Amino acid sequence: MAVTGHIVLIGAGNVATRMGIALCQAGHHIIHVHSRSHESSSLLAKRLDCGHGTNISEIPENADLYLVAVADQALNKGFPGLKLNQRLVVHTSGSQPMDILEHYSSVHGVIYPLQTLSRERDIDFRRVPLCIEANTPENLERIKEWARTVSGIIYHVDSRQRAILHLAAVFACNFPNQLFHVAERILERYQLPFEMLRPLIGETAAKVQAMTPFQAQTGPALRQDLQVMEKHIELLRGDAMLQEIYRILSEMITQTHSTP
Ligand SMILES: NC(=O)c1ccc[n+]([C@@H]2O[C@H](COP(=O)([O-])OP(=O)(O)OC[C@H]3O[C@@H](n4cnc5c(N)ncnc54)[C@H](OP(=O)(O)O)[C@@H]3O)[C@@H](O)[C@H]2O)c1
Repeated sequence: MAVTGHIVLIGAGNVATRMGIALCQAGHHIIHVHSRSHESSSLLAKRLDCGHGTNISEIPENADLYLVAVADQALNKGFPGLKLNQRLVVHTSGSQPMDILEHYSSVHGVIYPLQTLSRERDIDFRRVPLCIEANTPENLERIKEWARTVSGIIYHVDSRQRAILHLAAVFACNFPNQLFHVAERILERYQLPFEMLRPLIGETAAKVQAMTPFQAQTGPALRQDLQVMEKHIELLRGDAMLQEIYRILSEMITQTHSTP
């Protein structure tokens, strides 16, 4: 493979944006952004200084890599009319199997970034783990070469392992983030700034870099401080869902730390 190549992005959201920027910085040329809406395809194309469109027939046929970073539902529904013959096509999904791409090209695989990516949040892409898969050993080597140009952390995982990693990622990222949002709302109700919690959130994530989550746990459920927990449930009166979540998570902590 040439050191640099021509790339078409299909999708213009969080992943397409961050990977598009990283690929450009690695010296590749994004030649076209295809997306569902004109608004997002043109926005990303402007950022990457390339062509764009919403019509499948406008997708150039001469790219070295087609990177499909669309919502999982869209990937599942497919792209009628898209034919890439023997061009390399990869998707970026954690949950979708690799062979979902076999209709489009005989040369296909996956580059799944095991990181939370947001369109407007800059990230050091060299430290984003990329989980790769391909339909043949030669194609795996090709995808590895592409992946190495943007990241220093590459894992070879199959579709089943990737689905498990994605599930774990939901527990490790999306659920805690929703709980940060809950904490923010609770503070707002009492006119306290979320800023005050940022050091705690930072240290919570930092601790598990040096010890296991089991070892890192603290708090009333671990200490079996039943009176405090009852007080917290009382403070959550009027919000049955949060009371339920508080009880379930406290029970999980109790069970986790009471098993020998
Ligand atoms: N964000 C993450 O942290 C992350 C990390 C790892 C993997 N992933 C995976 O990467 C993929 C993309 O995620 P994302 O976060 O980038 O999603 P996103 O920000 O919601 O962007 C999805 C993009 O797909 C486009 N799209 C939807 N339906 C389409 C269609 N039928 N044809 C063409 N484009 C279509 C949307 O177009 P419009 O904007 O025009 O509506 C949007 O640009 C998903 O498979 C996700 O699981 C995400």
